[in-house]
Amino acid sequence: MSLIELDNVGLQFQVRRFGRISLKEYLLKGFFLPSKRPTFDVQALEGISLTIDEGERLGVIGHNGAGKSTLLKLLAGVYPPTTGRRAVHGRISSLFNISLGFEPEASGWDNMLYRGFLQGETPKSIREKMRPIAEFSELSEEFLNMPIRYYSTGMMVRLAFSIATTIKPEILLVDEVLSAGDMAFQQKARERMRSLISSARAVVLVSHDLASLSLLCDRVLWLDHGKLRMFGPAKEVVAAYTEQVTNHSRRQAA
Ligand SMILES: Nc1ncnc2c1ncn2[C@@H]1O[C@H](COP(=O)(O)OP(=O)(O)OP(=O)(O)O)[C@@H](O)[C@H]1O
Ligand SMILES: [Mg+2]
Repeated sequence: MSLIELDNVGLQFQVRRFGRISLKEYLLKGFFLPSKRPTFDVQALEGISLTIDEGERLGVIGHNGAGKSTLLKLLAGVYPPTTGRRAVHGRISSLFNISLGFEPEASGWDNMLYRGFLQGETPKSIREKMRPIAEFSELSEEFLNMPIRYYSTGMMVRLAFSIATTIKPEILLVDEVLSAGDMAFQQKARERMRSLISSARAVVLVSHDLASLSLLCDRVLWLDHGKLRMFGPAKEVVAAYTEQVTNHSRRQAA
């Protein structure tokens, strides 16, 4: 059985239009149309069909704004698809947008509990993992007792990474998360990623680091303006993408 299935999935965001308006317009609008700003639709994903099977290590590449992070959030269930169908059979652990899912007013310890529950842990099983999570993060007791909103970005990355990787994931979703920690943590995190990737039932990895991606993944999916441009063996897709990017910048330079 497939762990994840997407069937002709599309996702549309409705975005408010920003821009300057004149004082007259502002006053008239403010008066007659109190809260309406015009909106437009962004088709972030369109017609995506794929299945992810047991043991699969899937990479996702593409230009900025191609829809990679949106695809991961859709897989994680953060966004429901606007069209099509999503089916997931397994426990998902995600490592992306570090602030997502953290409770800013709660301490590091309490956030470990919340995230643990979200990832399917029981109160007992997560309590057993809190000490190892704290140790891997190398955050001091003082910080762990403090509300998360006092943390630096790197500290949040340390905590998010330590939680997500101490709780053994079944399906692991990773979005460019390692670059924010400091060098010492990055090295440690890479080691742990490697062992997680080999033990998880399935992994989906979004990265602009094409060399690591080809090493870690069997298949790669190339997204281009929300559409699936190519999907196949990692080396082939990475080569095609690199060629397209190189040609594009050559044309721009000429
Ligand atoms: N919450 C949101 N509301 C409205 N539009 C969004 C939202 N999230 C993403 N988008 C839009 O969806 C498109 C895809 O964005 P996404 O973040 O998935 O790109 P990406 O491939 O991850 O890019 P990057 O390489 O820069 O991380 C973009 O046009 C973006 O502006
Ligand atoms: Mg992204």
